[in-house]
Amino acid sequence: MKIAVIGTGYVGLVTGTCLAETGNEVICVDIDQLKVEKMQHGIIPIYEPGLDILFLRNISQKRLSFTTDLAMAIKDAQIIFMALPTPPGEDGTADLSYILGAAADVSKLITSYKVIVNKSTVPVGTADKVKAVFEANTAVEVDVVSNPEFLREGVAVEDFMKPDRVVIGTKSEKAMKLMTDLYAPYVRSGNPILFMDEKSSELTKYAANAFLATKITFMNEIANLCELVHADVDAVRLGIGSDDRIGKRFLFPGLGYGGSCFPKDVQALSKSAEEHQYNFQILKAVMTVNEKQKTVLVDKVLKYFKGNLKGKHFALWGLAFKPETDDIREAPALYIINRLLLNGATVTAFDPEGMNNIKGLLGDRINYANNQYEALQDADALLIATEWSVFRNPDFEKMEEIMGNKVIFDGRNLYDLQKMVDLGYYYNSIGRSLISNSATTLAIEEAHKPNELVSL
Ligand code: UDX
Repeated sequence: MKIAVIGTGYVGLVTGTCLAETGNEVICVDIDQLKVEKMQHGIIPIYEPGLDILFLRNISQKRLSFTTDLAMAIKDAQIIFMALPTPPGEDGTADLSYILGAAADVSKLITSYKVIVNKSTVPVGTADKVKAVFEANTAVEVDVVSNPEFLREGVAVEDFMKPDRVVIGTKSEKAMKLMTDLYAPYVRSGNPILFMDEKSSELTKYAANAFLATKITFMNEIANLCELVHADVDAVRLGIGSDDRIGKRFLFPGLGYGGSCFPKDVQALSKSAEEHQYNFQILKAVMTVNEKQKTVLVDKVLKYFKGNLKGKHFALWGLAFKPETDDIREAPALYIINRLLLNGATVTAFDPEGMNNIKGLLGDRINYANNQYEALQDADALLIATEWSVFRNPDFEKMEEIMGNKVIFDGRNLYDLQKMVDLGYYYNSIGRSLISNSATTLAIEEAHKPNELVSL
């Protein structure tokens, strides 16, 4: 099939590349001339495991190409994907100007039947708005289809090539047929293509992300409670996750959800509900709890240092919002850094992939290390914000030598508690017992007086 993909951000590029991989001829179009030129020369603009191989293979075999020329890209395309940003507007509602703008441009150029597929996460009713744009500008027949993406950064290629399900919102049989043919190679293992109306499909995407964000948030609250009642969140997690109705996945407590999707989508769904005079109370609680959870680690640090971080220096491992990505959007690490700096501390950070992005954002506000051990130099404590594999089994003796102390605040529960006892570390993680060592016991006892409030 001949396909055009408008927008070569994260979703557009993964979609275009993975569609080319099953033999389709894909032209990706973007307004960013420099980015397009780079892609034409085989330079991939994002870090996503496995994508580079497919990207280069499909370019060299002439199934994948890039252009800034929209008219050329859509001329012969049977299906036109729109993978454009829907950033939150000032009031939290999704800004549809990119999507509706692209729809207007396309509507003025087409001369034959097209299926217009929206991949972006959009509020319910967007397909109708896109249809209205086409109706206003052209008499050429189009079908507007909602086809949300469920790609996780870090495993997006696998998610696209072997999806749990493909959701397609359309009532047009012609469009259904084309979409079924297009996705057939991806659902060969029997996972379903779910057809529904456009609005249900649009809502499915928001509901999925909001549900997952709620699941994480619930576990974060359980973890916080575990600390107060001296229970172990790992045990509770396994205890509830063994129930099929709950499931083992997505139950890991941490520093709150981040990234480019969950925060934006939860907020947009809540706003959408408000516009329909519905008070979606759970989502409001989820947003409030998540904001607090992002700095739970700094609360622990403040308690440990008795509320005074002036002149203290911290090593921070992990900047990306999760492992296997360089994406730092809404990353808990940013909130942690901000609060440490506000309290007069200094920070040296390391992330296996996120360094360039963080340097661009924070400049000389923090120091940067070339590897995880270098970050530890002169640190009063190590904070861990992302569960990269490379942090999972470090050389603890070397760490102690470099830091001159054994103090770790771990927002991702990377280490076995008994191991930390054996190594004599002070180790404060999320929803688990606090491991103290003799040198720090006094400070810890002081810090953990019940209900103690540390004023900043
Ligand atoms: C998400 C959805 O999973 C995907 O289907 C959608 O299309 C886009 O948004 P992504 O943002 O890449 O994907 O990340 P995901 O792996 O879902 O994690 C989201 C956040 O939840 C991260 O901040 C992660 O650290 C956090 N998380 C996840 C937890 O805190 N605990 C968990 O158990 C799982």
